[in-house]
Amino acid sequence: MEFAQLLEQIENVRHEVELDFATVSDAASLERFRLKHLVRKGSVQFLIEQLRSVPKAEKPAAGKAVNELRSWVESAFRDFQQQFTRSQHVTLVDVTLPPRPPGAGRVHPVTQTLDRIVDIFGSLGFVVAQGPDVEDDAHNFGKLNFPADHPARDMQDTFFINHAERDDLLLRTHTSSVQVRVMESTSPPIRCIMPGRVYRNEEVSARSLAEFHMVEGLYIDRGVSVADLKGTITAFARRFYNADSKFRFRTSFFPFTEPSAEVDMTCFICKGAGCRVCKHSGWLEICGCGMVHPNVLSACGIDPEEYSGFAFGLGVERVTMMLNGIDDARLLYENDLRVLKQF
Ligand code: DAH
Repeated sequence: MEFAQLLEQIENVRHEVELDFATVSDAASLERFRLKHLVRKGSVQFLIEQLRSVPKAEKPAAGKAVNELRSWVESAFRDFQQQFTRSQHVTLVDVTLPPRPPGAGRVHPVTQTLDRIVDIFGSLGFVVAQGPDVEDDAHNFGKLNFPADHPARDMQDTFFINHAERDDLLLRTHTSSVQVRVMESTSPPIRCIMPGRVYRNEEVSARSLAEFHMVEGLYIDRGVSVADLKGTITAFARRFYNADSKFRFRTSFFPFTEPSAEVDMTCFICKGAGCRVCKHSGWLEICGCGMVHPNVLSACGIDPEEYSGFAFGLGVERVTMMLNGIDDARLLYENDLRVLKQF
């Protein structure tokens, strides 16, 4: 066959294909198209077969022309195919079905704990106070009676902040910093709790996070004694843990309180017999506390001769884990709905 003749035939097929494409409107008409043009006895294959009889010198040009036509037909065919399978999917949707219920959000377990703590102390007459996450050394350490360069500062691994003009800025390591701000800005009687986020430069593990929440408590008035401290914490813990637990105040050390104590209660799971949650001791530590150190009162402008008070602090994630038998703190912040849905 002459090259010119072949080109003419290609043009004929192209024209026919164009006309046929115009009639394709659904899967059935597309199938009719395929049977006419794209099968072994179809028009495109017919052109390919004609290549054999084209003179050798013109074969490359002829091959190219046929191939161009073929890929145009094939790709247009695929486009149609996709279009029809897509619209088929659409027709599979039953628009009369009721909508899927939207997944209801829920309060994060740590926030639930925080809310309960705030509620209980609220009913005891404590108001909520807040302070900044970015603190200075004075509020986080100095005025809380952490002596400069004293190893007490090593109790808490601190994230310091790079700042052009100041070198005393840090992310607060505890909410005790808010105590200082409250005492500086108000005068007794003071009765408040200070929930908030705290930061420690610690390796994240099952037992510790670098960012977590604490609730600080502060009560300052004339004649506040250790008895008030014990009574308040016991009243809170009875309601919070909903248990007729026993409590013990174990002497401890904090720079900002004197005397200082840590409070344990009998494990509410095993009732003191020893289990996994209490690490077989029968006791769970619930908070740190003590009588506000006279140096702290003075540093914050309150006369320690006239006033006294107590303070306490507890870790909210720790309490949440204890209450719910969660053994890895990281689970609280992985946003895995399978975990969070359980609370
Ligand atoms: N600030 C302590 C901590 O970071 C917690 C604490 C203990 C706060 C005793 C207090 C307190 O107010 O009296 O671990």
